[in-house]
Amino acid sequence: MSLTLRWLGHNAWTLTDGKHELLIDPFLSGSPTAAAKPSELSPQFILLSHGHGDHVGDTVEIAKRTGATVISNYEICEWLAAKGVTNTSGGNLGGWQKHAFGRLQLTLAWHSSTLPDGSPAGNPSGFLIEMDGKRLYFACDTALFSDMQLIGATGLDLAVVPIGDFYTMGPDDAVHAVRMLKPKRALPCHYDTFPPIKQDAAKWAARVKTESGCEATAIKPGESITL
Ligand code: NI
Ligand code: MN
Repeated sequence: MSLTLRWLGHNAWTLTDGKHELLIDPFLSGSPTAAAKPSELSPQFILLSHGHGDHVGDTVEIAKRTGATVISNYEICEWLAAKGVTNTSGGNLGGWQKHAFGRLQLTLAWHSSTLPDGSPAGNPSGFLIEMDGKRLYFACDTALFSDMQLIGATGLDLAVVPIGDFYTMGPDDAVHAVRMLKPKRALPCHYDTFPPIKQDAAKWAARVKTESGCEATAIKPGESITL
């Protein structure tokens, strides 16, 4: 078996083992770089890192149509339930959740989090996912923090880090993040969606290789990698 990870632009991804499909932060209909329409996706799980509109995106619509289980923190899941989303799994930072695809931990993220209507959304998170014998870390929206060393110490097959700057860490800190995470492979995200986060991702990937020895690839929205 293998895992296929497809970038839909910004911090939106699908991850599938051929049997289970996970959709991360589905900001699609409002995203200038989205590689899919909400109606084209049928995930069993939707992972939501925090409450900002460029991450919540089309979560409610997709969850209602597909019956997908939304995995997030308690506060966001309560908000989704009030909007009519029936299947949610609301944990909190540091906690592992077991699901049909494997297991997942909500990890620390240094950021802010308010839902699109101004409701409080608890603490933002990243995701550490164990699926198909692999360990994948999605930093999601965050500044650089030294506990990334602890996440990396678990042995990562893949790390996905934001490089956009302005709203999250930028290219320099993202290189440092990869040096701490020591994944087999790294991918950049959260760039080029809006003018303030325009970045040269290919240049960043080349820097990662030189400065960390880690394999890094800048893919385009719509493209996939296999793990
Ligand atoms: Ni955010
Ligand atoms: Mn964001």
